[in-house]
Amino acid sequence: MATYQALVLVPHNHQIMPQIQTKEACQTLPAHQVTVKVQAADLNHKDYLALKPDSKVIYEYPRVGGIDFAGTVTASNDARFIAGETVFATGYGLGTDHDGGFQQSVTVPGDWLQPLPDGMDLKEVMYYGTAGLTAALAVSKLLDQPALQNYDAPILITGVTGSVGSLELAILNKLGYTNLTVVSRQQEIILQDELSRLGATHLLKPAYFLQTASKPLQHQEFSAVLDSVGGDLLAAILPHVTYEGRVTMAGNSAGNRLKATVLPFILRGITLYGIDSVYQKEDERKKMWHLLATKFNLKDWPHPVAKVVAFDELPEILKAGPQTKLPQRTLVEIS
Ligand SMILES: NC(=O)c1ccc[n+]([C@@H]2O[C@H](COP(=O)([O-])OP(=O)(O)OC[C@H]3O[C@@H](n4cnc5c(N)ncnc54)[C@H](OP(=O)(O)O)[C@@H]3O)[C@@H](O)[C@H]2O)c1
Repeated sequence: MATYQALVLVPHNHQIMPQIQTKEACQTLPAHQVTVKVQAADLNHKDYLALKPDSKVIYEYPRVGGIDFAGTVTASNDARFIAGETVFATGYGLGTDHDGGFQQSVTVPGDWLQPLPDGMDLKEVMYYGTAGLTAALAVSKLLDQPALQNYDAPILITGVTGSVGSLELAILNKLGYTNLTVVSRQQEIILQDELSRLGATHLLKPAYFLQTASKPLQHQEFSAVLDSVGGDLLAAILPHVTYEGRVTMAGNSAGNRLKATVLPFILRGITLYGIDSVYQKEDERKKMWHLLATKFNLKDWPHPVAKVVAFDELPEILKAGPQTKLPQRTLVEIS
């Protein structure tokens, strides 16, 4: 019987341990399901969170990790896909509610798969992955805003050393925006150089906002904000948004609770958009991946560094947690 390797998350002594295990290939393929030989995956915030029992991103173990994957169809019971075609998937609870992409063979409903966007190979699609889709969704919410027809419009990005924030920064830089302020807790000069390379024009510490957080309205500074940190930082930023400014909220690195007042909304007409990539509609996903392959594409533009790791390095990498403080995407060569 054919076998393959999978990175399985297993509870052990109140911890979640990542283990490479050998699995037996499925003999029968259910209706509407497609089997993919996984060749590439990537690492996202949630892949690390999955190892923290308190994070509650996984309710049932053992679970094969990996929220994104790309590879080649080996068998299909879905008329839209044929063997030999290259495909990818992000979200839909992969790696959390369902076994994910950190395995050499995965079987999923055809509805979760997409053909590769024009001009992208397996590695490039995983370079963006969930983080790229999220960044594209957030940037797209802002672009028709009247203030952003001016490329000098002041824009603020948080979580900018992370995958989502750094891709948002690089995409806005590519689109021609020239007044990009970023927020980071990090001090290093090397980080400042790297953020400038990606297009940042000003660097602020979270304290800039947090120290005056009790005031419900502040000087109107930013026409648009792309946030992936949430918590107290986002609450403290809202009073700085200009009249009819827009804010996107994609993450919760600094916490789930948003202790804000209604005043920026009712006195300045600001709009707060929630961003979800996991269960995003198919037509919107297609639109975003087309943008990532064209107008938002960073291949020939300064982009966060890409690090490539091997499948068998995954257990140690996941156990160590996110290491770099520089904007970086991590690609995983699965097979
Ligand atoms: N909505 C969606 O569909 C979706 C999709 C992908 C990710 N997400 C969420 O978006 C967030 C970011 O994801 P990511 O992949 O970019 O994560 P990441 O690579 O781990 O980066 C998160 C960044 O946020 C900053 N940060 C972390 N903790 C913070 C704190 N307590 N206060 C202020 N800043 C903090 C850090 O920047 P500094 O160290 O430079 O301050 C860090 O680099 C996560 O919460 C993730 O779950 C949501």
